[in-house]
Amino acid sequence: MNARAKRRILVTGGAGFIGSNFVHHWCKEYPDDRMVVLDALTYAGNYQNIAALEARENFRFVKGDICDRLLIDQLLAEEDINTVAHFAAESHVDRSILGPDAFIRTNVVGTFTLLEGFRAHWNARGRQEGVGAASRRHRFLHVSTDEVYGSLSAEDPAFTETTPYAPNSPYSASKAGSDHLARAYYHTYNLPTIITNCSNNYGAYHFPEKLIPLMCINILLGKPLPVYGDGQNVRDWLFVGDHCRALDVVINKGIPGETYNIGGNNEAKNIDLVNKLCELMNELAPDLPVRPAQKLITFVKDRPGHDRRYAINATKIKEELGWTPAQTLEGGLRTTIEWYLKNRDWWQPLLSEEYQNYYNQVYG
Ligand code: NAD
Ligand code: TYD
Repeated sequence: MNARAKRRILVTGGAGFIGSNFVHHWCKEYPDDRMVVLDALTYAGNYQNIAALEARENFRFVKGDICDRLLIDQLLAEEDINTVAHFAAESHVDRSILGPDAFIRTNVVGTFTLLEGFRAHWNARGRQEGVGAASRRHRFLHVSTDEVYGSLSAEDPAFTETTPYAPNSPYSASKAGSDHLARAYYHTYNLPTIITNCSNNYGAYHFPEKLIPLMCINILLGKPLPVYGDGQNVRDWLFVGDHCRALDVVINKGIPGETYNIGGNNEAKNIDLVNKLCELMNELAPDLPVRPAQKLITFVKDRPGHDRRYAINATKIKEELGWTPAQTLEGGLRTTIEWYLKNRDWWQPLLSEEYQNYYNQVYG
């Protein structure tokens, strides 16, 4: 049996929500691999998410920006990176509506900078060890979103990998731009890039601006639960642990140049999801300030350009790479709520002045 070749992996955005879950997953599954995390620690990044891993010999955290080409070149060379897992992004639609600049900078220019750096590094390795060998060992995973495909009606079939791009928010437009770059670098330069487009994640370490953690925390604080518009928008919910397993399979078995859609098989209307969260909180949290939590549900002004429905057809990754999601929505929500109940020390400091300012801007 072939021993698995060790990877030397650079994870960008590894202190954020999905990135930090992925870093924990990878360190557990592949303790002998070299892991370097590069993260700018924006408002969404939290060193505490990965602090426990710093004691490991194979682990290094670097605070820095993916737009910094010199830093990228230095890290790729001195760590002899053969695998990039690129999570770093501005990731919240409402913030992209308030101020798109940072989204273009990090998501488009940052991804471009990383691709250029990796191309130069991979070319140099190709000259040393042969182009074929470098291509077999090197991977650039670009983590993206189903939002690049635009909005579905209730009757439309779910997004496949060939659904035309139709992004509607500055966030999804910037992610679409970065996807096109990752694709072009494969087609033009043969750089071994792979793109994944996943649905809405949820789980531990999720910053409280997104729907599920925001609702959980507001329930615990007895604050209104702001549901946009009529609450009938649909999202497909993917448990972050399932997503990390999918990315693991894509890095290890995925084909360069390909795109894989990753979904949770769990479509829900926002209002039904919020009601479910209230129900579970009523059951799991002993000292709720307002009980039943459903009393807190408040319909608020809709998000501009709010996409109606996202749904993922994940047949390709199932048939070609053997991955399927394992979590049910109810099971995943229970696990997530229990984590937020146990980890007040993690989320309380995030409700900072910056967060309150942001909150007032969006919710009035
Ligand atoms: P997040 O906002 O929680 O984390 C982003 C991380 O990137 C943070 O740690 C932040 O500090 C870091 N970062 C931001 N700008 C940076 C820069 N210029 N240089 C270096 N680091 C920088 O995001 P997330 O929810 O973990 O999402 C990770 C990736 O997955 C993103 O690319 C996002 O578009 C994609 N995605 C997320 C979801 C979801 O439901 N959360 C769904 C689909 C796709
Ligand atoms: P969000 O978590 O922001 O993810 P995305 O917009 O990327 O799908 O929102 C999920 C859904 O929940 C989306 O339809 C918007 C809605 N939503 C609310 O109704 N209220 C809120 O306070 C937030 C943050 C989101």
